[in-house]
Amino acid sequence: MTAPVLAVEEIGKSFKGFRAVERASFTVDAGELLALIGPNGAGKTTTFNMINGQLLPDHGHVRLGGEDVTGWPPRALWRAGVARTFQITQTFASMSVAENLLVAILSRQKSAGLLAAAGNAHADEVQTRLAEVGMAHAADTLCSVLAYGDLKRVELAIALVDDPRLLLMDEPTAGMAARERGALMRLVAERARQRRTAVLFTEHDMDVVFGHADRVVVMNRGRLIAEGTPEEVRASPIVREIYLGGEAISAVGGGGI
Ligand SMILES: Nc1ncnc2c1ncn2[C@@H]1O[C@H](COP(=O)(O)OP(=O)(O)OP(=O)(O)O)[C@@H](O)[C@H]1O
Ligand SMILES: [Mg+2]
Repeated sequence: MTAPVLAVEEIGKSFKGFRAVERASFTVDAGELLALIGPNGAGKTTTFNMINGQLLPDHGHVRLGGEDVTGWPPRALWRAGVARTFQITQTFASMSVAENLLVAILSRQKSAGLLAAAGNAHADEVQTRLAEVGMAHAADTLCSVLAYGDLKRVELAIALVDDPRLLLMDEPTAGMAARERGALMRLVAERARQRRTAVLFTEHDMDVVFGHADRVVVMNRGRLIAEGTPEEVRASPIVREIYLGGEAISAVGGGGI
């Protein structure tokens, strides 16, 4: 059997005695969209930071395609095929959309510092990658004036420059208008299917979770408390209890948690 793209094994992290994540284990396969959900402060971003190498787990392991990558720095993980978008969108505001893509491409090729000269050399790839996220028309716009949903698309294009095997997205649709959320997640899902990219995302919008995730894991107070298909998780009494005080999650429409 081939190893999953990502395997998280019993990882945990405490901050000054406060257990932010405790013994969390799950896997993500190639081409799969796994949603990590949970209330504010549940430990989702901390989990991402351990997978991404920004935080060293106190215990447990992170494996990429079977290889133990626990403690690898973010850059080494990026080279190994792990890309990430952030809960708070990060682009270079003073650069144009195309320049942001270019920096990612140059970084991949270790040729930073050649920005101007490289503009011509990589113009085609920049356009292709922007077209993939529906932003080709805005190539010369400054990132500082983009609508938030468009920034999110640029951030996604940057994350995908290296054709990652694992894409980590921390609240990819936070701050976006409802109709834009579905569009962004459809892009991500299409990409996952076509390129067999494994995608792990956190999300508060249940429409996004149940509409796009293949599987859902639920975290509460640092612990994983449920896992299953969207239908199974939606029907889980413990999940209903935590989120909605017993009300059915299926009743949520366009709402967040
Ligand atoms: N660097 C840190 N130092 C101390 N406590 C931290 C640190 N990072 C996170 N925490 C705490 O750990 C817990 C989990 O935080 P985390 O950011 O992982 O939650 P989250 O599930 O991503 O929440 P949200 O949905 O609000 O983004 C919270 O109680 C948070 O205050
Ligand atoms: Mg978070």
